[in-house]
Amino acid sequence: MYSEKVMDHFSNPRNVGEIEDASGVGQVGNAKCGDIMKMYLNIEDNIVKEAKFKTFGCGAAIATSSMATELVVGKTVEEAIKITNKAVTEALDGLPPVKVHCSCLAEEALQAALWDYATKNGLEFEGLEEPKEDDHHHD
Ligand code: FES
Repeated sequence: MYSEKVMDHFSNPRNVGEIEDASGVGQVGNAKCGDIMKMYLNIEDNIVKEAKFKTFGCGAAIATSSMATELVVGKTVEEAIKITNKAVTEALDGLPPVKVHCSCLAEEALQAALWDYATKNGLEFEGLEEPKEDDHHHD
């Protein structure tokens, strides 16, 4: 039921860890299952140079955060804002429907890290919104 890419990213997650003095850090929790994800970004000259994550969560959450960090590196902040859970899921060749909510964690953690970067630097980006507490996807 899981694609080979999901199994690969679950078994060998990329970019696991922390970035000291990261440009932006975002942590989100999934209200549905209690899983937690923390995303760290290093941004220089408006480009995401490095991304790392830590996920205390299910296999789908680990695979989607791993893929999200791979997708975001090399992107401009504007491009990074547009990375959705759908894009991450598609890059993994799909997830079983019951696990789609897990991929929202990756999108939200990424957005939260970008928001953190923007507020620390007094920047505003179109389409980037402040992460809301307890406003996760209830699907
Ligand atoms: Fe919690 Fe997947 S079951 S993120």
